[in-house]
This record gives sequence, structure tokens and C-alpha cells, in this order.
Amino acid sequence: MRIEAQTGSLEKTAADAVVVNVFQDVAPLGGATGAVDRALGGGIMAAVDSGDFKGKVGECMLFYSGGKVAAPRVLLVGIGKQEAFTLDCVRRAAAAAAKKAQELGLKHIASVVHGAGAGQLDPVKATSAVVEGTLLGTYRFDDYKSGHPPRPALEQLTLVELDDQKVDLIRTGVRMGEAIAAGVNRARDLVNQPPNFLTPTAFAEAAQAVVAGRPSLRLTIIDRDEMQRLGMGALLGVAQGSVEPPKLIVLDYGPQAEAPVVLVGKGITFDTGGISIKPAMRMELMKGDMAGGAAVLGAMQAVADLALPLRVVGIIAATENMPSGNAIKPADVLKAMNGKTIEIISTDAEGRLVLADALGYAQTLTPRPQAMVDLATLTGAVFMALGRGAAGLFSNNDMLAERLAAAGERSYERVWRLPLYREYRDVLDSDVADLKNSAGVSPAPAGASVGAIFIQEFVDAGIPWAHLDVASMTYHTAPTALGPQGATGYGVRLLVELLQEWEPFGEE
Ligand code: BES
Ligand code: ZN
Ligand code: ZN
Repeated sequence: MRIEAQTGSLEKTAADAVVVNVFQDVAPLGGATGAVDRALGGGIMAAVDSGDFKGKVGECMLFYSGGKVAAPRVLLVGIGKQEAFTLDCVRRAAAAAAKKAQELGLKHIASVVHGAGAGQLDPVKATSAVVEGTLLGTYRFDDYKSGHPPRPALEQLTLVELDDQKVDLIRTGVRMGEAIAAGVNRARDLVNQPPNFLTPTAFAEAAQAVVAGRPSLRLTIIDRDEMQRLGMGALLGVAQGSVEPPKLIVLDYGPQAEAPVVLVGKGITFDTGGISIKPAMRMELMKGDMAGGAAVLGAMQAVADLALPLRVVGIIAATENMPSGNAIKPADVLKAMNGKTIEIISTDAEGRLVLADALGYAQTLTPRPQAMVDLATLTGAVFMALGRGAAGLFSNNDMLAERLAAAGERSYERVWRLPLYREYRDVLDSDVADLKNSAGVSPAPAGASVGAIFIQEFVDAGIPWAHLDVASMTYHTAPTALGPQGATGYGVRLLVELLQEWEPFGEE
């Protein structure tokens, strides 16, 4: 989609539709909405006064202008109550308007930057939110649909601003929003891909494609032989049941001399459960078990496109989890890169195994990481705890946890902290190895915390680390405010928000 900013007034702008907004319960109509309404002869005010249009976030109403403004259509979108107004309202309103335009088959819309006027939001951030909403709201995945051609896509968004002092800020916001949305939609595309197409090898090729046009990103692919040399017995154990070779995908951005912030993603391209096989019902959703890895790749792309001023390393542990004559089985013992031995209780608790070695690898980087954040669709238990409201956050460091929580509020990709009480570790005591990979009871009490405390065993206590259990956030079977059913791209906006505001931890 072509997105541009220009100075002018909306009622004189040529497009298939112009988009204006109203708050809920606020009269009279101000700014561009007021100007367009005067030109139309009061149709918008009448819709509001009659109560037909409430102004709820994302509510849409279409007017035909009959030549009274330059565009043939005026699309009114609600932005909600003024006292509850945030960037997320902007994002959702822009998504709803763009989706409506796309459903109508429109090619070009012109819009105000919602919130930059009476909403009093920062114009760069507000613009970014409009662009994010537009690009996320019109996202579709139809790579594998044959027969009927898809509806035409929305091709152009023009952001119109009266004050020419503000246009440069709006241009900056456009570039920011484009970078962020492209990262999110990259993650969505990967998660939506069928698992026979998105194998670990194809995942590595996707990383290659991201790096190709971006010289600031360096890519290393660690293959099975190299994993063996490095002693990654946990990751190799998960991979050994599959004919698809595993890949550890490492993307490196920013100054080499600097201690990196490391992002680690679980990249199980399909989780059958292995020998501890899952029930057939809804097993197809397990193509999304690489969503943490996809978020890491999407975030690395956005970090490069935003040219953020810090070193960031992204690590994706990509493998299938399959049952076979070669597969690991319960009672097997694996040895992770950090030397710890693991007794397998459930081969379906594979995410923590691949993360153990991905984190092990992260800690061999020089200089050592200043912080590590892993994202994983790790447990069904986190859905029981938090539903679709937030990802589970676990951390050994309060400052990192607070930063993630704040970034979650700002991006509206929320996280909620859950405990890593020492007692949770007890259920992982093993008779034969250093620890078990699962308590082996179902349903497991505090299952998300037990998974997290397993991972913590592979983290040096001196490194600030956070684990995000994103299992309930990355794939929705119904449409959301920002996109269709399927992959959400959850985590990309959260990570970008965290890194945009990043500062090294002080001595305190
Ligand atoms: N990939 C699953 C977790 C999952 C479940 C993600 C539902 C998305 C939706 C993970 O590998 C898994 O199977 N976890 C087990 C852990 C148990 C064996 C300790 C679970 O949650 O049941
Ligand atoms: Zn599993
Ligand atoms: Zn899994």
C-alpha cells in the first residue's frame, strides 16, 4: 500500500473516500470532521444527534457526498470516549475504516490522523498508530486460495493535515508505522503458512529473505552438525524424530562491541506432541507453535527498518516435534548445552527443551547479553490463567519485568506477571537426571510457572531474563479488532516498543 502525507483540507482532497472521526458523547464536531460536516450540510451531526451513530471505537457509517466534497464518499469512524482515548483506539479505528473501505472495493482513501488534533496525542505516535491500524486491519492471507480471485486490495492511504508545520512529523510517523506493521504482518504470514511449507529449512530461508535487503542485519544458520559440536542435546533431542533438519537461526543487528539485548523465539514448525502424542482434535492449530520465533523475526526486521540505536540479537530455535522410530521417548535423558541433564517425562513439553539450548547459545555471545527475552507458545495452562487478555510474564529481574509491562500497556500487547516461586521447581526433581522436563501430572498445577522455572535453570542468574508464555495470544480462531482470524503477530509491537525505549540497566 502506498502511504503519503500532504497538507490541505480533507473536503478538497480527491480520493474514493475521505475518513473522519467522532468521539462518543462529544459535541459539537470539531476540526476536519466539522469542516466536512458543514460541506455536507450537517449529515454527520444528524447521525450523531439522532443516536444512530454512537461513536464507539471502530463503528463505521458511510455517507455519499453528492459532489459537496471532492470525494464521492465520507466514511465516519468512531474513536470512543474522549476520557478513555489512547493510541490503541486510533489503531482500532483506522483498522475498522480501512477494512470497511477494502470491503467496498475502494482503492484510495484519505484520512485525518485520528487523535493528533482534539485527541492531543503525539503526532508521530498517532500517525504510526493510524498506519499500523490500516496495514494490520487490511491484512489477508490467501496464498493457497485458488479459483476465485481475491477482492481488490486497498492501494493508497493519504493522510491529510491542515497545519503544514506538522506534516514532517506525520511523514516520520508513516515510516515508523510502516516498519512496525510490516514486522507484524511478516510474523503473521509465517504463522499462517501450512507446516508442510514452513519447515525449519523454509523458516531459515525466510530469515534469509528478511536479511537480503537489509545490510544492517547479519544472519547465521546453525545446522545439525554444528549443534552437535556445540552440545545442544536438548534441541537435537526434539529434532531427532523428524526427517526435517533443525535450524538455529541467529540474526545480529547493531554494533558488535555492544552487549546485546537478545530475543529468543520458540520455533516448533509443527508440534504433534511427539511420542506423547496430542489428541487429533484441533491439532492443526499446532502449526502456530513457531509464533514466538516468528515474532522474533518480525521484530528484528522492524528494528532494522527503524534503525534503532542498540545491538539486538534474535535467535530462533526451529524444528518439528514428531513421533517416529527415531524420536525421543519418555525416560530418555538429554544433555543441554550448559551441561545439565534432563529426564524426558513428556515429549510434548518440547518448547522448554529447545529454549534451553537457544538460551545456552545466547549466553556464549560476546559481550554477554545485557538482557534476554524469550517468547514461546509454551503451555495450555497460561490460557487457563489469563485467557486472551495477556501473555504470561516471568522474570528474574523486576526492572526488566516492569519495562515489559509498561511496553505491553503502550502497545496494548499486554503481559501479566506470574510467579517463579522456588517451590515450583520441586515437581521437576528427577531420580536419574538433574531435572525432569515436566511434572507428569495433568492438569498440572501452575503449569505455566513450572514451564518457566524449567527454562530459568538454563539462564545465568546474573543476566536479566524474561520469559513470555504467548500460547493464548498468537493465534485467534475469530477475527480481532486488528486483523482476520488466524495469526495475530502478537509480540512484534511489544518488543519494538520495549526496544524503542531501551536504556542499559543502571547500577541500582
Ligand atoms: N505447544 C504446546 C503448548 C500450546 C498449547 C500452545 C495450546 C498453544 C496452544 C506445548 O508444547 C505443550 O504441548 N505444552 C504442554 C506442556 C505439558 C506437557 C507439561 C501443555 O501445555 O499441555
Ligand atoms: Zn508440545
Ligand atoms: Zn509446543
